[in-house]
Amino acid sequence: MSILRKQFLQYVGQTSPSPMLIEVSRASGVFFYTPEGKRYFDLISGVSVSNVGHSNPSVISAVKSQVDDYMHVMVYGEMVQKPQVEYAKAIVSELPDSLESVYFVNSGSESVEVALKLSKRYTNRRELISFKDAYHGSTQGSLSVMGGDELKSGFRPLLPDVRQLRYNNIEDLKYITERTAGVIVEPIQGEAGVRLPAIGYLQALRDRCTEVGSLLIFDEIQSGFGRCGSLFAALREGVSPDIMCLAKALGGGMPLGAVVSSNEILHSFTNNPVLGHITTFGGHPVCCAAGNAAFKYIKEHDLVSNANKMGELFERMLTGGQHIVDIRRAGLLLAIDLGSSEKLFKIMSLFSDRGILSDWFLFCDTSFRISPPLTISESEVIECVGIIEDCLSAL
Ligand SMILES: Cc1ncc(COP(=O)(O)O)c(C=O)c1O
Repeated sequence: MSILRKQFLQYVGQTSPSPMLIEVSRASGVFFYTPEGKRYFDLISGVSVSNVGHSNPSVISAVKSQVDDYMHVMVYGEMVQKPQVEYAKAIVSELPDSLESVYFVNSGSESVEVALKLSKRYTNRRELISFKDAYHGSTQGSLSVMGGDELKSGFRPLLPDVRQLRYNNIEDLKYITERTAGVIVEPIQGEAGVRLPAIGYLQALRDRCTEVGSLLIFDEIQSGFGRCGSLFAALREGVSPDIMCLAKALGGGMPLGAVVSSNEILHSFTNNPVLGHITTFGGHPVCCAAGNAAFKYIKEHDLVSNANKMGELFERMLTGGQHIVDIRRAGLLLAIDLGSSEKLFKIMSLFSDRGILSDWFLFCDTSFRISPPLTISESEVIECVGIIEDCLSAL
């Protein structure tokens, strides 16, 4: 084992019992490379972060230019910083009218914390509702609304008054009542293994929340920024939430999270008590500059169409012999289900040998993930499918 790998295990805190230990020396487009020159197809994109491709020149130039001007100046919200204002304006211009203002934070989990706090503060209610197999982050609040039990079992007590419903189950909507402050849902469930909403389900959820006065929160942290074949999944479904959580690709490769909502709802943080959420680095100017450059790139290069085309191509070309039992797909987020975790772990090691980086889903260990940067070209998809098919035939 190289000295750096040994030092990584010795000095860098670990959470995984078996880290991949792939040393990265550089990354470009849909690939990254080890110091020995081995090339990997990146089918994870840092978990739907690198939508505009690694080392995207537009993002690099925006970062360099902002670093030259200024970096951190003051806690969020006290000073007028052009990168924040410009990016917030660009985001809301693509969203329904009720989503008119952006509160920037640092990460996805923090944006979920903010959304949960906002819904309690705005409605003056306590109950929070989420869904089975939902992933919303790893802080205490976001963990409380997580849909799987195993990852949160060691950290109780968590938030009280949280209830999980079955996703896509219309009958369960009756549990959303006048007691419910907010309902948080991934419009397309990611870590459940890419589960799409049934036709009309999100609208029924929207209607129920409106009927009882609960806030509807869409967690678009993984589904946003073109990944699922529209700029945001809310647009694909034509349903407007009261609050939208963003992160991952929002920062164009830099750490950034956000909550988007109406001015009225966000205004709850300015009184009773004031400073409803405080974040030192939220909306860091370098991250906002990077994110805005990436957002422009997605639109100017029509990466949404590319996500749909390349997603379809993967789906069409993958045959997998008798091994593939199901393919679930939204844009360029695919779950390839092998129906068995044994097969899945075996294919992971074949992938690694052949220079493909993929993984499974937190709540679905029978499917592997295909979510490359949205910049992937047709010839790259064809080459990648060839390697995947080879690995499947070696199972
Ligand atoms: C849907 C969803 N919500 C929230 C999060 C948490 O984001 P972060 O890891 O930035 O805290 C994730 C991360 O995977 C996610 O996929």
